[in-house]
Amino acid sequence: MANTYDYYEKNWREYCKSTADCVPHEEIDRFLGFVPSQKDLILELGSGSGNCLRYIYDKGYNISGSDYIIDIVLELKKLIPCCSYMIDFSEVEFINAFIEGTAVKHIFANAALHHLTVSEFINFINLIEVKGLLFLSLKEGAGEVTHEDGRFESFYSQRQIEKLVSKRFEILSFSRSSDILNRDLNWLSWTLSKK
Ligand SMILES: C[S@@+](CC[C@H](N)C(=O)[O-])C[C@H]1O[C@@H](n2cnc3c(N)ncnc32)[C@H](O)[C@@H]1O
Repeated sequence: MANTYDYYEKNWREYCKSTADCVPHEEIDRFLGFVPSQKDLILELGSGSGNCLRYIYDKGYNISGSDYIIDIVLELKKLIPCCSYMIDFSEVEFINAFIEGTAVKHIFANAALHHLTVSEFINFINLIEVKGLLFLSLKEGAGEVTHEDGRFESFYSQRQIEKLVSKRFEILSFSRSSDILNRDLNWLSWTLSKK
């Protein structure tokens, strides 16, 4: 049966083309407002088309991209003159080792971590050893869905996430926004700071 990985591996080119110009400026600017220095290294998880990566890079910030689809990473390297890595964000221990071995200070994950199962997401929040800020945006709703095309998605309420993250993180900002692709759904976004 197809899964999220198979979906993006097969459809990455069309997917990236359809989202390259969709940039959630307001949410990104709110996050960047909390980044203490433009020199701080930000790691983006699940960069996709590089829509957010390019926006943050062009603003003069020190950011690296990542994705688990090799063709996406190769394309990011071609399009945006910053580092981009192969990282599977379900492997939290790997990300922690990566952070430990590099200067990564903040993590930015827009429209990406909803592809984790709820238990993988809880694991991510409980184990991630980010030094500074963590930006998250997730789909509002309830439960988990596997679409016919193989993509898996999980949905959350503001209350659920805030209860989960408050053990380890301080909430610096929250916003609810409609979908840039005009689908009938809301995105919930947070900038969190490690306690
Ligand atoms: C919905 S797209 C969002 C792309 C971009 N962040 C944006 O804001 O438009 C999700 C991206 O996350 C990647 N992805 C999904 N699961 C992943 C995982 N476990 N590890 C790394 N990347 C993953 C997909 O390949 C895809 O590029």
